[in-house]
Amino acid sequence: MDPFKKLVLSSFQESKILEELISPMKTHEFFSDVFQKNVATWSQEPTQLSKLFAYNSFIDVIKKCTKPEQMKFFQAVDENHSQELNHSGIQQIMRNSSGDWDTERCEDFFRGGGSVLFFALEDLDERIQVIRECFKKIFNCDIFVNAFATPRGAQSVHRHYDPYDVFAFQMSGSKTWRFYKPLKGMEMYSTCQPLIDVRENQDLVLEREVRLLPGDVMYFPRGFIHEARTTEQDSDSLHFTLTLVYDTWNGYFSKIVLESLNAIHSCEDFRNFFPHLLSGSNDFKVAEQIVYQKFIDELKSRLISLP
Ligand SMILES: [Fe+2]
Repeated sequence: MDPFKKLVLSSFQESKILEELISPMKTHEFFSDVFQKNVATWSQEPTQLSKLFAYNSFIDVIKKCTKPEQMKFFQAVDENHSQELNHSGIQQIMRNSSGDWDTERCEDFFRGGGSVLFFALEDLDERIQVIRECFKKIFNCDIFVNAFATPRGAQSVHRHYDPYDVFAFQMSGSKTWRFYKPLKGMEMYSTCQPLIDVRENQDLVLEREVRLLPGDVMYFPRGFIHEARTTEQDSDSLHFTLTLVYDTWNGYFSKIVLESLNAIHSCEDFRNFFPHLLSGSNDFKVAEQIVYQKFIDELKSRLISLP
């Protein structure tokens, strides 16, 4: 096993949450065979998931959200497409005259093909804070908590891939996920751009279809092209996700190199004339060695733990 995965594994032995969620798979099997490699699913009792996320209805989630930016509303155009709706307009439709969320109006919106995407639910309640803290410890990275409510026969988000690994928890209803082969094999290393759109790519190869039912847990790594929809066979769906927002070695070294380049920008030695036509001569090599060593020293001074 990769020594860094071993390190991560040894740092959370006290946490049983992951172990229970992926049972009967063992945690070490997850880290050696699944993590950053494959899509995997586990079927648990729905009651087990409701210990983590105490919501079976999207209306309960709406009522707990305190900031407008935590929600996005979509309307199904056809079974594969939805369009985002004007935020303030739709909120007015779904609230009553006192300004409170109206259960019946929310249900009407949903039945009419409306879906809701919830973001940054980190502070929704104490249980979510606990599961988030546990996942932070386990995976040693930041964790975003999102949720998705989709009525039967709709797809709210188009085909895409994410720069994050995702755990999905099916709370109620069912949803069908399709995973496609990565485009050039490089997508899983992308770290900075959220939700990369691959709607226009017609040459994608379907690799796997997964139907999640209440109590199901799914993991998929960053870069895996996917789309999730509720087919006519599915029922109104609500699922939560925990996304693992971690840096890569590539990202880490890129940052260090950029910082080093910025630091040497005003340094006399590095602003000097670069006589590349003389490269290969002994004098050039001697001069190059001096500048090279300074650059390496600058890089080394920024590395976290190397001497
Ligand atoms: Fe996604």
